[in-house]
Amino acid sequence: MKATYISPIQIKKFPSGNSLKDQIMFCCQYGALAPSVHNLQPWSIDIAKNRLTVSVYKGHHADDSDATGRQTWISIGCFVENIMQAAEACGMKAKIIRADYANDAIVLELSASKLKAVEQAKLDFMEARVTNRNPFEDVTLSTKQRKQLIDAAQGLDGAKLFIGSSKKSVELVAELTKRAIGLALSMPRFKKELGRTFRSNLSTRKTGIPGHALGHGLIGSFIEPLRFQYMNIAPKESAKEYRQIKASAGIMFITSRGDIAKYWFNAGRLYERVALLLTSFGISQATIAATVEAPDFHQEIEKHLATTNRLQAVMRYGKSTKKIAPSPRLSVDQLFTSSASRD
Ligand SMILES: Cc1cc2nc3c(=O)[nH]c(=O)nc-3n(C[C@H](O)[C@H](O)[C@H](O)COP(=O)(O)O)c2cc1C
Repeated sequence: MKATYISPIQIKKFPSGNSLKDQIMFCCQYGALAPSVHNLQPWSIDIAKNRLTVSVYKGHHADDSDATGRQTWISIGCFVENIMQAAEACGMKAKIIRADYANDAIVLELSASKLKAVEQAKLDFMEARVTNRNPFEDVTLSTKQRKQLIDAAQGLDGAKLFIGSSKKSVELVAELTKRAIGLALSMPRFKKELGRTFRSNLSTRKTGIPGHALGHGLIGSFIEPLRFQYMNIAPKESAKEYRQIKASAGIMFITSRGDIAKYWFNAGRLYERVALLLTSFGISQATIAATVEAPDFHQEIEKHLATTNRLQAVMRYGKSTKKIAPSPRLSVDQLFTSSASRD
């Protein structure tokens, strides 16, 4: 496989004696590992003194699968969460000092570290987290694990996690997703847009979803983008997704009190906290945005959860023995707003 990964990051290379900019850039490497819609990595950065500005990168916007910007802002939330956790693990202090949603920017202030001890495990989980699209086996969350997951929403205004470990939750999500995917994939523009984000296993591009992450070998990875763009794949894909969800131990539902950028951002931070906690428990996860984005489908889930919150993300979880190769990422240098190359 030729794809370029930035992993593994060498923590011994943390630039404790260097400038704050170098230290912030080091933490941004962990931000770059965050999950994002279609792996578009819709973020860009600027660093001035102790300030890191994270902005929405518009060049790769997924117009048909993310018309409102919800998926983009959830991705930005994941990115910022990783940076903040990485900074803390390296002994730095990081806080959000301004959230300027009108200008699509989040400003963080970071303070330097003399680096006494690194919380290595935290950093390792960020490197180990992947979206695993295989069928899962059953797993039961302990009371302690459930509490840790529920408590992960602390400090994230308006965000709340519901854990659906009953058969009813899994069946409901499987059924609604099957319908939502069938609907989405019957729209030629959506299908084309998604197909264009798929990459062959030989691609050297650093954004988009490589075939291996979708379970394809070399030939399949070349066919997949064409199949999505030009064939009627709705029945097959929705049936496949139904089977995958049914073979899950349960569902994580990430919800918010409101449905605008500030809530999407916090939902994204919660998404990443949940994904990292599951990774630390040795549990796999995969996200399916179809029921969140398809009109009205989210309401059935909200009714099932007996919440007035808005559904923001649906993540299935379970045990998997499959080893998943990481998807490519842009390097930190490429994330600067001044960078000329983004792919
Ligand atoms: C907001 C958001 C929405 C996503 N939606 C889906 C989805 O609907 N289906 C899917 O298979 N993966 C989905 N993903 C997973 C991304 O495709 C994945 O994070 C990306 O390809 C990078 O791969 P990695 O998570 O293994 O690092 C989503 C991720 C995020 C953050």
